[in-house]
Amino acid sequence: MRKNALFLLVSELAMAIQAASAYPENHPRVQELLVRLHRGVEAEASLLRGLNIGFFRDHVVVDEFPFVEPNPTLARLIERMREKGIEKILVSEGITFGEMKRFVFFLAAGTGSPSEQVWESIACGKIEGADAGGAVSLGLSPATRPNGFMAGAEDVLKNVLASMVAERKQSKVEEGRDIVSSIMKGLRQEGMLIDRLIRLQGHDDYTVTHSLNVCILVVAQASHLGLPENKVRDAGLAALLHDIGKDMIPSGILTKPGRLDMDEFALVKKHPAAGAKLLRRIDCGTELPMIVAFEHHIKYDRSGYPKLRTREPLHVVSHMTQIADVYDALRTYRSYQSAFQEKQALSIMKEGRGTEFEPRLYDNFVEILS
Ligand SMILES: [Fe+2]
Ligand SMILES: [Fe+2]
Repeated sequence: MRKNALFLLVSELAMAIQAASAYPENHPRVQELLVRLHRGVEAEASLLRGLNIGFFRDHVVVDEFPFVEPNPTLARLIERMREKGIEKILVSEGITFGEMKRFVFFLAAGTGSPSEQVWESIACGKIEGADAGGAVSLGLSPATRPNGFMAGAEDVLKNVLASMVAERKQSKVEEGRDIVSSIMKGLRQEGMLIDRLIRLQGHDDYTVTHSLNVCILVVAQASHLGLPENKVRDAGLAALLHDIGKDMIPSGILTKPGRLDMDEFALVKKHPAAGAKLLRRIDCGTELPMIVAFEHHIKYDRSGYPKLRTREPLHVVSHMTQIADVYDALRTYRSYQSAFQEKQALSIMKEGRGTEFEPRLYDNFVEILS
């Protein structure tokens, strides 16, 4: 019920903005929508002691509820926020009708950035820490560095990835395999380790840390499915190398705070094919890294990228890597008022069970985390 009320509120915000951009300020339709919106916002803000709205990729998150349905009203609202550079809105209790109206007209106008405005009861802008160095396109804040063997593995992996890209050395694949082995050993020796490891989020070199996180999550999934040890290791290696094609993306794009423009995103979309091309030239002892690098952004319903001409099944490890990839991206987004803690990341992902994610593998993943 609460979720419905909040969804209605976001829809009303979208409608009010739309009306404000189409009609003059004193048009009855605009007034009617503004009154309704103000009433709803005021009520929710006092109930929740502050209303919190976040915009993330194709999601809107209000309070703790994510809305991901492909709804044209929401899609337009997200697009408008992207244009304005707004990733979150915080509304305090006691917002006046006048300020609500000013805010809606500001959002409706094609020009002006939130930093040029002074609001009393509204704070809006980028997710906290988005301007920090080392952040990636999701607007991450730098977080704690991994410790223990993870810190060591991070340095080794950095090296391995760089050498593989530069020299295409088979010997470096062996080092990658060693990392997977130590991860597997670590998981086996210490049952609680998985729990600790998946909470580690270091972002000073995002792709490297992210690759390790995804590797751990894929090894855990493959082990939980009961795959034989050599298959688990192959899956881990493939996951470790899944983003190796990102090397061809200029680091300015990878570390850009805030949203990417269309050209930048078009370049990012090439990293699966670039990774597969690179891995084709290296003897990994298995074709799996090449396959997973190519397929890891293709969703279960075949949306995502790259687009395939046939409907041949994707490799099961590609599905597992895709699940781990999205989860790690959401968890990395944690500077957003703790909104994307483990439970919330899973609740956002749940909406994609059977569409974005292979349903049985999604269930397997949830089982591991619980
Ligand atoms: Fe990727
Ligand atoms: Fe990734």
